[in-house]
Order: sequence, then C-alpha cells, then structure tokens
Amino acid sequence: MSDLQNRIKQLKQEKNAVILAHYYVHDEVQEVADYIGDSYYLSKVATKTDADIIVFCGVSFMGESAKILNPEKTVLMPDETADCPMAHMADTERIDALRKEYPDLAVVCYINSTAALKCHADVCVTSSNAVRIVKALPNQHIFFIPDENLGRFVAEQVPDKHFIFNDGFCHVHAAIQSEQVMAAKKAHPAAPFLVHPECRPDVLALADFIGSTSEIIDYASSDESKEFIIGTELGVLYELKKQNPDKSFYSAGSAQCCPNMKKISLEKIIHVLETGDHEMHVTDELRSQANRPLERMLELAQ
Ligand code: 13P
Ligand code: SF4
Repeated sequence: MSDLQNRIKQLKQEKNAVILAHYYVHDEVQEVADYIGDSYYLSKVATKTDADIIVFCGVSFMGESAKILNPEKTVLMPDETADCPMAHMADTERIDALRKEYPDLAVVCYINSTAALKCHADVCVTSSNAVRIVKALPNQHIFFIPDENLGRFVAEQVPDKHFIFNDGFCHVHAAIQSEQVMAAKKAHPAAPFLVHPECRPDVLALADFIGSTSEIIDYASSDESKEFIIGTELGVLYELKKQNPDKSFYSAGSAQCCPNMKKISLEKIIHVLETGDHEMHVTDELRSQANRPLERMLELAQ
C-alpha cells in the first residue's frame, strides 16, 4: 500500500467512513474501496451500510442516489465536478406531453440520471435489472430515458410492449464502432466479445454477451475462454485481471475511458475525509420525489 492509501485507511477508521467505488475509477482508487461494483450493487450497498460517512468514488448521480436512499448518512464526493453528461439528457416537457398522449405510460428512468429527472419517473432501472423490471411493469407504453441504446436493447427483450425512445447517449460507449469490433474479432478470433448495453445497436449485434459491468466480469470469470474483447469502460480491467490473472483482455477498439470517472484520485479522497468538503445535499422535496422510483426499482428487482 502507498502512503496515500495508508492515510485513507487510517482516516476511514477515525471517521467511521466507508468507500464505495464504481468499476470505472482508477485502479488505485478501487484498491482502497470497501465495496466496488456496478450501479445496482452500489445502490443496494448504500441502503445497508452502518458507516456514518459514505465516500462515493463515482459520478454525481451515484452520490445523489446514495444520499436519497440513505438520507441520514453524510455522502462525500471526492470531485464535485465528476458528472455524467448522459444523466442530463432528457426533457421533462416531453415526459409531460407523452403522459397526456398515453394515459397508461410508464416513464422508466435509467439510474444514470439526475435526481431532478428521476422525480418525473415511475421506476428506475440499472443496466443489470432493466429487462426484468420493464417485464414486471403492468404498463403497455414505456418511455425509456435517458439512454436510447439501453432502451432499444430492453425493447428487443420485451417485444410485447410499445417503447418510445429518447435521444440520450453515453459518449464513452457510443464511441465504440462496429468496424473496430470486427477488426478486434479478426485479430482475436477465439475471443468472445463482451459488451455493455449502452453501446450502439450495430455493436450489440456483434456481441457474444451483453451485460452490466459486474455481469461482464462474472461472465469472463466463469467462461472457459482464455481471451476476451471488452466493450465497456476499461476500468473493469482491474477486477477482470484480479479475478483472471491467466486470461487476456483486449479493448473493443477505442481504449474506452470515462473522463469524469477518472477525476477521482487518492488525494481528493483524503481531502474530503479530512475536511468534510463536497458533501452531497439533496432537498427534502427532491429526495421524497426521487426516492419513489428508486425504491420501486429495489422492490421490483428482488
Ligand atoms: P453499470 O455496469 O454500473 O451499469 O455501468 C455503466 C455506467 O456507465 C456507469 O456509469
Ligand atoms: Fe456517464 Fe458513460 Fe461515464 Fe457512465 S461511462 S458515467 S454513462 S459518461
């Protein structure tokens, strides 16, 4: 452990703090985390921790969800500017208009969204539970926000429902091109292509497996293949290599990197633990409205 990592360990004990980290943050940050996972796993952990302080190593919608699900805890964000552009990509006026057009509409909101957007949703989903939750809804008409690619992936699995899509996207996953994937497959013909559903439909069409970051890691760890092509942010390589030191992993082509997730550093974690700076605040009104679809997700995902 480095000096910085030792200092974090000491501060965690002093402050009764717990560190949650998404798989996309830097390796050295994942090394100091108490819990590392995909968005669904981290939202469940946030409801169960006994710590007084949660340091959330991820982007702001993740810290907001942790605070909403666990309002009595202090949630600290190592970098307040780490924000997901896709989380803002939906228009509430369009939601209102569609609700008038389809009285039976369910607004299904990917957890990668601001709390302000979640307030307009009937249920939240993550990449690992979206299909299951949409199937469980009684509604026939689904407006899926903000990610169009995930929405289209879910719609394919649930053909009996009518979907309306929104034009939001993740710039990291949408940057992966099918030509790059085909070139990677040609270079590594024995390697299954494992991909996140935020990728474009023509990229998903080339997949051997489609899933959340945790699901991709689980698949690679249990599959007998010795090499894999990875179609998600390359922070997952830390856990993939840890669990599978004898296997090889190749990027789908564009060295996928989320610049916002990479803003989190050990120095910034130390700063917030020492000072209590960058606390996540959510107003009571916002919390009570955004909590409803999040809790509904946790119930339906059981
Ligand atoms: P999950 O696997 O957690 O859904 O990751 C996707 C993502 O882009 C998080 O920002
Ligand atoms: Fe947002 Fe994409 Fe980065 Fe995830 S990887 S935080 S969806 S920009």
